[in-house]
Amino acid sequence: MNDSSNLDELLASRASHGRRQIEPCTVVIFGASGDLTARKLIPALYHLALENALPTPYRIIGFARRDKTDESFRAELREALNQFSRTKPVNEEVWTKFAANLSYCQADISDAAGYRKLKELIDRSGDERLKTNLLFYLATNPSQFGEISQHLSEVGLLQKCENGGCMQRLVVEKPFGHDLPSARALNAELIRHAHESQIFRIDHYLGKETVQNILTFRFSNSIFEHLWTRDTVDHVQITVAEKLGVGSRGGYYEESGAMRDMVQNHVLQVLSLIGMEPPVSLEAESVRDEKVKLLKSIRPMSPADMAKNIVRGQYFAGEVDGEARPAYRSEPKVNPKSNVETFVAMKLWIDNWRWSGVPFYLRTGKNLPVSASEVRVQFKPAPNILFAARSGVKLDPNSITLRLQPNEGITLRFNGKVPGAATKLQPVRMRFSYDSEFGAYTPEAYERLLLEAIASDATLFIRRDEVETAWDIVDEIRDSWTGRPLTNREFYLAGTWGPTAAEELLAADGREWKNPQPVK
Ligand code: BG6
Repeated sequence: MNDSSNLDELLASRASHGRRQIEPCTVVIFGASGDLTARKLIPALYHLALENALPTPYRIIGFARRDKTDESFRAELREALNQFSRTKPVNEEVWTKFAANLSYCQADISDAAGYRKLKELIDRSGDERLKTNLLFYLATNPSQFGEISQHLSEVGLLQKCENGGCMQRLVVEKPFGHDLPSARALNAELIRHAHESQIFRIDHYLGKETVQNILTFRFSNSIFEHLWTRDTVDHVQITVAEKLGVGSRGGYYEESGAMRDMVQNHVLQVLSLIGMEPPVSLEAESVRDEKVKLLKSIRPMSPADMAKNIVRGQYFAGEVDGEARPAYRSEPKVNPKSNVETFVAMKLWIDNWRWSGVPFYLRTGKNLPVSASEVRVQFKPAPNILFAARSGVKLDPNSITLRLQPNEGITLRFNGKVPGAATKLQPVRMRFSYDSEFGAYTPEAYERLLLEAIASDATLFIRRDEVETAWDIVDEIRDSWTGRPLTNREFYLAGTWGPTAAEELLAADGREWKNPQPVK
């Protein structure tokens, strides 16, 4: 095994392990009349067809209650594609071929007869493989996941495979539960009919190129990885900011708030990729093992720590980019006395060898001044003896900022000398920009995720213990808010960076948030 060619072979086989060949596949979308299908799933599948990335042959079947024919279903989706496609105009030739693979199964999710009809439809496929290699995309309310999988199992469309050799998969959308007990109950329902290896839990952040690039950046470059430790890093900031308010989603948001809507999934996923140890291979299980380990290393907080380290906020009426925004409590379907948080900032400690003593500051919110997601790794300051001592100025600490969206890129910030006789220092930047390096190639997260699910590669999906660990963290924090209505200092003006308590959280440690810059 010391022989380097053997080692190369081993690494190559590890890298490809778990990813099967893309076989002909039938994709069945439950909830096919919904928003997600029109806005995300069909545009993503169309783009995969456009790039010749789908297997040959393939079929897509929409399953929903509304009365439609194949023709009217296709016509509706064509309309939606005109609106939501990331490339325009829609390529007629590709669409015509794509549409020929699309059909509709009108049925009620609770009606066993509907699943028999679906089975007949699938059994009529010309290619044998389309009858067994089945991807069920559950774009429905999570309360229906159990029922759908039970019906699928009863008609023989879903078989539970203990050895992972099965061709049927379930793709499930968030929210995956609303707390740990409900997530466990949902998992228990799903695993009655499918093995864990057949369940693909979506977090669309994992489909984003820049989020995937976190591992590439960390583990394919020798110059950065050894800086990624408590010896050099002062602290890490993760900001997932949105300019939008809750808009028409008030009903949903009242049940979720920022903690369940963003922190439990997207923010903790980004944190786990930034902080995890190198996996032994790129195999799904190795990567996910490391992510779970990281989440499990987050230090539990006492009630006193939580009061100090967690800031929640709710927006009141203000302006974003000169546009008036109503207060959260005046949004449609929101309780006028609601205490739901539209902003969270927190300080977490990761109790492992690498990160001991390094604070991680996380924040996310709606109606903030900029829509941007960024990770900033800030390094310890240089010793205060040479330049700083001489000029008496505080030197800017070095940092690496991973801009996840928009204006995707990575910036390294360091100090440079301003040309001239005086010793004047100024922070300068080196920047890698996705657009200038690779052109404006920005596939939608769903394209990648659908392709991975079709290929049965679970790396970019959330494993059961991952989802449960994340709920454990979030539940503990949410529990600390029970019975505590928002106080005046927890409100923030729409269009600002959250309540002042969020600034104070860092100020108490002698630090400050670095706000993501808007795209010019
Ligand atoms: C979703 C949340 O999961 O992610 C939304 O439910 C949020 O509230 C969205 O707006 C953000 O996703 P993106 O890709 O626009 O950053």
